[in-house]
Amino acid sequence: MVKKIVTLLLLVVIATSSYADEGMWIPMLLGRNEADMQKAGMRITAKDIYDINNACLKDAILLFNQGCTGEYVSNEGLFLTNHHCGYSYITSHSTVEHDYLTNGFWAMSRDQELPCPGLTATRLVRMEDVTDQVLMGVSGDTPENERSAIIESNISKITARAVEGTHYKAIIKPFYYGNQYFMYINEVFTDVRLVGAPPSNIGKFGGDTDNWMWPRHTGDFSMFRVYAGEDNKPAPYNASNKPYKPLKYLEISLDGVNEGDFTFVFGYPGTTQRYVTSDAVELAANIENPIRIDLRTIRLKHYNNAMNQSPAQRLKYASKVASIANGWKKWQGETQGINRLKGVEKKKDFERSYQQWANDKPMYYNVLPRLHEAYNKFRPVSVEFTYFSEAVCASDLMIRARSYSQLASMDASSDINSFVESLKVANAKYFSDFQQHTIVDRAIFVETFLYMWQAGYAPYLADNLADKSSVEKKLGEIYDNSLINNEQKLKKFLANYSAKNASKLRKDPAVQLYDKAYANVYDPAKIATYRSAYRDIQHLMRLYVKGMMEMQPDVNFFPDANLTLRVAYGHVEGFRPRDGVYYKPYSTLKGIMEKENPDIYDYVVEPRLKELYNTSDYGRYGTPDKEMPVGFIATNHTTGGNSGSPVLNADGRLIGLNFDRCWEGTMSDLLFDPDYCRNICLDIRYCLFVIDKFAGAGHLVNEMTLVKN
Ligand code: ARG
Ligand code: GLU
Repeated sequence: MVKKIVTLLLLVVIATSSYADEGMWIPMLLGRNEADMQKAGMRITAKDIYDINNACLKDAILLFNQGCTGEYVSNEGLFLTNHHCGYSYITSHSTVEHDYLTNGFWAMSRDQELPCPGLTATRLVRMEDVTDQVLMGVSGDTPENERSAIIESNISKITARAVEGTHYKAIIKPFYYGNQYFMYINEVFTDVRLVGAPPSNIGKFGGDTDNWMWPRHTGDFSMFRVYAGEDNKPAPYNASNKPYKPLKYLEISLDGVNEGDFTFVFGYPGTTQRYVTSDAVELAANIENPIRIDLRTIRLKHYNNAMNQSPAQRLKYASKVASIANGWKKWQGETQGINRLKGVEKKKDFERSYQQWANDKPMYYNVLPRLHEAYNKFRPVSVEFTYFSEAVCASDLMIRARSYSQLASMDASSDINSFVESLKVANAKYFSDFQQHTIVDRAIFVETFLYMWQAGYAPYLADNLADKSSVEKKLGEIYDNSLINNEQKLKKFLANYSAKNASKLRKDPAVQLYDKAYANVYDPAKIATYRSAYRDIQHLMRLYVKGMMEMQPDVNFFPDANLTLRVAYGHVEGFRPRDGVYYKPYSTLKGIMEKENPDIYDYVVEPRLKELYNTSDYGRYGTPDKEMPVGFIATNHTTGGNSGSPVLNADGRLIGLNFDRCWEGTMSDLLFDPDYCRNICLDIRYCLFVIDKFAGAGHLVNEMTLVKN
């Protein structure tokens, strides 16, 4: 019996640690990976990457707002990130006369750089393990709600103390589901200006068609500059601010990449769920993803139809479609990947061995059964929430109904007037092309509700409606008869709105439907079940992961991503997505010409780019055999938030920008498979080529340090 367990454990340990390139490691603890990284080819040290006493690569990395990564490439605050990260800032500076999104933007001098209010660039000053302080006063049998209260109060004291008398900000985050806590001391810069962006047909070449796919040819980069006060410290925007002098900026390698080369990615991955149980994987991959995918298929069908009708409609829906399609496509890859890997089965196998190990341990023996129980409570409500966000909130009618429901619940003491004013402004914009839009929005509204009703998740539609055709008809009537869809009547209604008119709003069919859908999912009993199940899951996951670490003392566990700075390492490598196909790890400008199609928006190629291609005019950025590299893939474990992260070589020099993952490996948030999981990178040589040769903004390249061995 004992022997059997030992063999089983051994197998599990081997299976875990053989996932060579899996992991998003904590910079402060990188010493543990140093030998492995050097064995894999790295020529620098863990201290070159993270060092609290000396300037190090860490100082060249920044968190771009709260969702992307950037890196300094000059000693004057110039940094790179992805085009899709800078997208909303590029758009916000674009007008019909100066359409920077379509045509690109290059500041030819400092005074042309464009301020981006609201945009922040955060540098990590240092991090610290604060587990003991955070858990002070907590013991193994402290009840969960007490535990949370103690932790919260400890955290606010520790963070306040840590930054007292400085301009820094402190944040503490849980790791391994609250088994460990780290504090991050940050410096947040707020004067950030747009410096450069390629035209869309470079920065977003391939659009949503190529998104998540390899081979890829997207020039997904944009450039910004951080400005600081006289003292080089963060300062609010001021024309007289000076370019920030970073403690460290990245040197750029022109040597390029070869298959097998060591690479690492240094940035801010957002969320992964590496340690969750089979129930969680099943819920995500086989229950919720299919619902989300179906519902988004409906929306995309209608938006895409509209976009194909005119350039104006294309513009109108472009960014909405980009974000809907991004998740839609990723979830398909994720579910297929999980099923191909037999992910649920694999998790169950592991759970069986865990249970065997835990059987004689009072602290752990019932963790998995209780997690299973908690998921049984959590699942049905979670599915309802999925329907609520993906179906109820799919149409503008329902999004707008939410605002009117809110208005109806405002009493005379609240600021009704300013709320009504904001609705009027929104309406002026909304109704400007209502005729066109209503066709799309009505269809989305009817079809998404119908889908939900057929799946049994809209009981409130069934009151007096027995068959599909009557539901469909009724939904159409709600759309057509709602006051909030009638421009003139709504205008009049809002013109002298007061709390007295609330009852009229409450009776509006669209507002009523929204209220019913909301009441259905936000039912107090359901919410209570959901919250308590969620809390149980968090608490039990803390024990489950703690047990996992005790069970496998030799495994170096990486903590799930939580939007803190991490290092992922691996190597440049192609892969076999399916039988008979091998993907090489790099793409070139030739592939852009192969994809060119002047009739398809996503595949239009700029004449200037063609000219450079036809004359092979690549300057110092091309390869010796006259090719212009564009992208490459590697085995680094990355996720959303890693966009814009630097991809570095064995010497810690910049060779690319991370911007995506290969579709066949998108299950890596849940389960990493070295045969399929690849991150997609923009080759830094293409980025420089676009700035210098294509755009003629060589002055920006001159600020950088280019190295060729
Ligand atoms: N898939 C990448 C990410 O998850 C890029 C998304 C933006 N690009 C697009 N074509 N929608 O963020
Ligand atoms: N495009 C993603 C981002 O915005 C990175 C791709 C991924 O999910 O790995 O962070």
